[in-house]
Amino acid sequence: ALWSPEALAGVDLEAFEETGEVPRRAVVMTMGALHDGHLALVRAAREAVGPEGQVVVTDFVNPLQFGPGEDYERYPRDLDADLATLARGGARVDVVFAPSAAEMYPSGPIVRVSSGTIGTVLEGAIRPGHFDGVLTVVLKLLNLVAPDVAVFGEKDAQQLLAIRRMVLDLELPVEIVGVPIVRQPDGLALSSRNAYLSDEERARALALSGALRAGAEAGERGADAVRAAATAVLEAAGVDPDYLTLVDPTTVEDVPASFAGGALLLVAARVGTTRLIDNTAVDVV
Ligand code: PAJ
Repeated sequence: ALWSPEALAGVDLEAFEETGEVPRRAVVMTMGALHDGHLALVRAAREAVGPEGQVVVTDFVNPLQFGPGEDYERYPRDLDADLATLARGGARVDVVFAPSAAEMYPSGPIVRVSSGTIGTVLEGAIRPGHFDGVLTVVLKLLNLVAPDVAVFGEKDAQQLLAIRRMVLDLELPVEIVGVPIVRQPDGLALSSRNAYLSDEERARALALSGALRAGAEAGERGADAVRAAATAVLEAAGVDPDYLTLVDPTTVEDVPASFAGGALLLVAARVGTTRLIDNTAVDVV
């Protein structure tokens, strides 16, 4: 680990004496394989705490959130590459915390956080236990880093919702900041798992963002039109989704045909052997 309690405790006391303000600390949690999406989170973290503040990036592939047969073993791990990516990210990072699995979980854990009903739908229905594993490591990392602000991407919309709900339900003293999805120019949402895609698969993967765009454009014709427009794009590309759903962003429940207002269109699909997720906000009229 590149981390020490001393580094995290290294608050700039001179700045404190001058301004009377305690420097704030922000955390960006990642599983490494860093890309421009992660860097947008780091910049948002720096913006949240200012130049005197501390930005901590955690880099840990959390075994608890992978199911049997998922890609825990083959998930890309390259700390040197991650440090190089952070160095070109345009925002200062003060601490990188990259523990081993044995350091994070020396004895278990026996006790885990339950994501409740959020953890049994959509991603949770397909990946049982996934969100319990996410929330358990997020709570551990919040306790280790003790940040004022924690920054997460809207790319993982259900994860962000589960984390916001944990903070609310368990009274955690941290502010959660969400950052919009960073995409490639052709629309593909940046993801560490894109590295698994062949050229042919990458072309087919564009159907996910294409379906979301078509769905969002159909918003003025109602909820059913959104679902139909998005489904048509996936079908034309021969992509069979795990789910394609238009939900209320606070509950993740399907919206009825009569719905009007802000909704979230979510998609997950396997392209080849790679599982991809994406989402977009939709104004349903
Ligand atoms: P990971 O998949 O590495 O993602 C780390 C953070 O980066 C998450 O908040 C995710 O939403 C955000 N992110 C990924 N791709 C993005 C994109 N294209 N645009 C914007 N943000 C993006 O999510 C996890 O790791 C783990 O579950 C974690 C929270 C670290 C717990 O282990």
